[in-house]
Amino acid sequence: MSDLFTVAVTVNGTQYERTVEPRLLLSDFLRHELGLTGTHVGCEHGVCGACTVLFDGVPARSCLMFAVQANGHEILTVEGLGTPENLHPLQEAFWEAHGAQCGFCTPGFLMTLVPFLEENPNPTEEEIREAISGNLCRCTGYQHIVDAVTLAAEKVRT
Ligand code: FES
Ligand code: FES
Repeated sequence: MSDLFTVAVTVNGTQYERTVEPRLLLSDFLRHELGLTGTHVGCEHGVCGACTVLFDGVPARSCLMFAVQANGHEILTVEGLGTPENLHPLQEAFWEAHGAQCGFCTPGFLMTLVPFLEENPNPTEEEIREAISGNLCRCTGYQHIVDAVTLAAEKVRT
């Protein structure tokens, strides 16, 4: 067994400290150590985007990082975005515009899009498609997701 390391990390505003093996992926840390299963794991090699979280405010693929790299950093997962009673505008728009079908890819899309809409609250369809080009969805054909982001942008602006 390899040496263990202590990881102190803030996730969705809560501080956690866990002792883990250095090989533990950040995605597995979030899901198995913290029980935050909203971060999904698809390909586990950086291709699908399902595991995307905000790492110090920047979208990052948690399957490509080790948990120990998060020591001293701040992470936002989909659980920290909104609540069923108080959805984030993106979540509301995905619901209203049918941007999610099975929902497996949805957390990754949402976490990719949060900073995108903050930086560009009035995106063109082309810009939206470019922004989500690193996230794979096997259900929607993407058009409903693009519609949802357009709707979310309207919500954010008003
Ligand atoms: S699970 Fe991380 S990119 Fe697919
Ligand atoms: S909604 Fe099923 S993979 Fe995107």
